[in-house]
Amino acid sequence: MRLFTPEAMREADRKAVERGYPSLLLMEWAGMKAAKVYLELFGKAPALVLAGKGNNGGDGLVLARHLLLEGVGVRVYAAEGQTGDALLALQALLAHGVEVGPLEEAFFREGEVVVDALFGTGLKGPLSGFYAGLVERVNRAGLPVLALDLPSGLPYSPHVRATATVAFAALKTPHLLQREACGKLYLAEIGLPKAILEREDLPEVAAPEALRPLLPRRPLTAHKGSVGRVGVLGGYRGEGLRYAGAPLLAALGAYRMGAGLVHLVVPEGTPLEPLEAVFHPVPHPALPPLKVEALAVGMGGGPWGKEWALKALEARLPTVLDADALHPEVAEAYRKAGVPAVLTPHAGEAGRLLGASPEEVAEDPLGAARALAERTGLAVVLKGNPTVVAEGERLSVNPTGNPALATGGTGDVLAGAIAALLAAGLRPFDAARLGVYLHGLAGDLLAEEKGVGLLAREVAEALPRARKLLTE
Ligand code: APR
Repeated sequence: MRLFTPEAMREADRKAVERGYPSLLLMEWAGMKAAKVYLELFGKAPALVLAGKGNNGGDGLVLARHLLLEGVGVRVYAAEGQTGDALLALQALLAHGVEVGPLEEAFFREGEVVVDALFGTGLKGPLSGFYAGLVERVNRAGLPVLALDLPSGLPYSPHVRATATVAFAALKTPHLLQREACGKLYLAEIGLPKAILEREDLPEVAAPEALRPLLPRRPLTAHKGSVGRVGVLGGYRGEGLRYAGAPLLAALGAYRMGAGLVHLVVPEGTPLEPLEAVFHPVPHPALPPLKVEALAVGMGGGPWGKEWALKALEARLPTVLDADALHPEVAEAYRKAGVPAVLTPHAGEAGRLLGASPEEVAEDPLGAARALAERTGLAVVLKGNPTVVAEGERLSVNPTGNPALATGGTGDVLAGAIAALLAAGLRPFDAARLGVYLHGLAGDLLAEEKGVGLLAREVAEALPRARKLLTE
């Protein structure tokens, strides 16, 4: 599944029409599918449909007709000046005897659900004047809002804040980059010929169908030395400061992702946890001989971060470079040595590597991840909402995960989990996108059960469930 820009989506629509596909069918399916989501979410609650004059408005008019047929009360207000398919959709609705009022007269009623069909992918520039005011009134009304295709106004401000959004044909960049405005996301197939949606030049959305085949299989004859062993190097002890937990959490992440054995190379005095690990206490960053297939390095490394990473490079094994190992000199050393590595920065760390501010990175995570992958020649996991995985020309945007994951140690768990997948033989890009997806899914399962207040170790513990869910 590809992530479309609004412009790329309009191009896809155009291509379908050029091939002779009747555009009215697309509109009919879109409105009908959205009506189905409406019924699923809001039952027979009455609808207030706000329709723009373009095709997004047309989708709204089709939805109104289908809701009416299902016995849902509808009030419809539409912009003037429909043409083409949208005009046909209006005529069809009028033929059912529905009154359609001018948009200027729209008002809100308690108990109704607002259907936002004002603007979709055709928006050019931020809303102003009447429409900016209308969008703000929608947001202030305090009613549930179902947005068709895109909450109106996105990707700019002001924009509608929707309770749920039905994306048509494919996800578009604002659905993942401005998830907050979209509420619960639904993806509706509207009949576009499949070949038109195959766009290898666009970023991919990490999706179960593509990730499932990557999961390492475990033969009946598997033993702990054959399914991937991980070395974790990290932690810091000195000058009144001690980071002991981070490497232990990475070890948990690796075990819970299926590692056969985890070796922990940590400062002397680090607690001997988890019991399942093999411990190598060292007075300073060092690389003892380890029988492992991959490394995770830098978690809790503090001032030792760079040294841990440069020592680890001597093993020439696939490596996850996390936290304090994320240093421009380290990335350069791995690139030069041709050692496969995955960098796992958050926006602040990525900014440090790129010479940009965290805000600049957060504003364009796709661009920043791509730039970092290009500069370092390594695979990059840019953590955030959404997390973006990049390598060379490839970009994968992750749809799982939620704000409950914003707590100390979840990044360490992720680093260990990705290392376990590297150790099992996955390539860096695949280990990264699969690890990120499952880690986010584990967080989603937990947030559903417990809400906010998760512990990183619980996220590790939920990884097998996430993995199982993906295999089903
Ligand atoms: N302010 C006011 N009007 C605007 C602005 C703006 N900043 N930008 C664009 N418009 C107007 C255009 O002049 C046009 O009339 O919005 C209308 C187009 O809006 P859309 O309905 O989003 O665009 P369109 O290409 O007709 O339809 C695309 O149709 O395929 C469906 O829902 C799907 O999102 C998709 C939509």
